[in-house]
Amino acid sequence: MSKMTPQCKMTSHTFLSDVPCAFFCLWLFCLIGLFAPATAQQTVIKPGQMWLDTKGEHINAHGGGILFHERTYYWYGEHKVGGAPGNKAQVGVHVYSSKDLYNWTDEGIALEVSSNPDSDIAKGCVLERPKVIFNAKTKKFVMWFHLELKGRGYSSARSGIAVADNVTGPFTFVRSIRPNAGHWPQNVTPEEKDPKSIARTKAEKEKFSGGPSDKHKQFNILGSHMEGGQMARDMTLFVDDDGKAYHLYSSEHNSTLHISLLTDDYLDHAGSYVRVFPFRWMEAPAICKHEGRYYLIASGCTGWSPNAARSAVADNIFGPWEELENPCMGVNPQNQLGPEKTFGGQSTFILPVEGKPGAFIAMFDIWRPKDPITGTYVWLPIQFEGDRFKIEWMDEWDLSVFLHR
Ligand code: DGJ
Repeated sequence: MSKMTPQCKMTSHTFLSDVPCAFFCLWLFCLIGLFAPATAQQTVIKPGQMWLDTKGEHINAHGGGILFHERTYYWYGEHKVGGAPGNKAQVGVHVYSSKDLYNWTDEGIALEVSSNPDSDIAKGCVLERPKVIFNAKTKKFVMWFHLELKGRGYSSARSGIAVADNVTGPFTFVRSIRPNAGHWPQNVTPEEKDPKSIARTKAEKEKFSGGPSDKHKQFNILGSHMEGGQMARDMTLFVDDDGKAYHLYSSEHNSTLHISLLTDDYLDHAGSYVRVFPFRWMEAPAICKHEGRYYLIASGCTGWSPNAARSAVADNIFGPWEELENPCMGVNPQNQLGPEKTFGGQSTFILPVEGKPGAFIAMFDIWRPKDPITGTYVWLPIQFEGDRFKIEWMDEWDLSVFLHR
């Protein structure tokens, strides 16, 4: 009250003069309330903690990815809801914008699920890990995501594609596909083309679900899906310096990762792809390019439960890839989980920090399958050391960490 103007000072014996003063104070509080942000400006990243948007609500963009466009970052991710059905898509893909990577403004739902039960993206489908890239030739924003048709568990293993004219949408669903129907990968072997092993695998009638097992090695899952298209679950997108875009996805019942070139409009697979890390059961791929080399982070395959992160490096995106060690170091004190459980998280994206060559942020999700909306985000700086890198736990950090590199 020391800053109050003299005419606004309240005294116990001047009731009449108190009335305009009270109105003035009320008006002032309303004005401040109107213009003050709901949450204080954030200046640090706190991995694993609730991350409030500028309205004061926990950011709802899980399994997400980030697009930098016209001096702004856009974070797209799965909009989760509370309770057990929250992992099924009830709303769609949420998008937030930020200039500084700390403070995020809710830009609404970029892609809505459909109320038409016949749509591939009918409300209640599984719509995971959306990623958006911008096509400089067509000027369209193109979104890809992992899609499981409603009511069919995780058996569909499809990729959904949507487009928009504006960065925050609305995105229009185009179609869903299984990648590269009718095409063999560049590194196909004669055994994989063998019609007998294809027939034997087809006779198994897709009895391959249930996670990692040795059974998958005894069959020819790649060959059995050649005609109809390959399975595609966990995924990311990557645009290279030459504008060529790639889709990386867990295929062959999650046993093997595929890396596929997209067509020039980014709306389809170009038919040119490779199988990498066969039978290493990698999920959650995330990729970046640093000093001409490609770096990959991924996870193992244990559903919503965390496992140890994987990493790899290659001179060519189509390989050969050299698998490296688990890049994570340190312990998340919130759950006592360290590298063996990726701090409780699972990778989703590697974000290049604009204007800072060599600065990359590894993004992970801490899933909460029983109440998915409460899932949190672990963002940590990637520290390159020669052709290796590490991701060290930090309770909180800011972008100045990159100045010291
Ligand atoms: C692990 C994947 O990485 C997630 O995106 C999700 O598909 C879960 N499996 C489902 O169990």
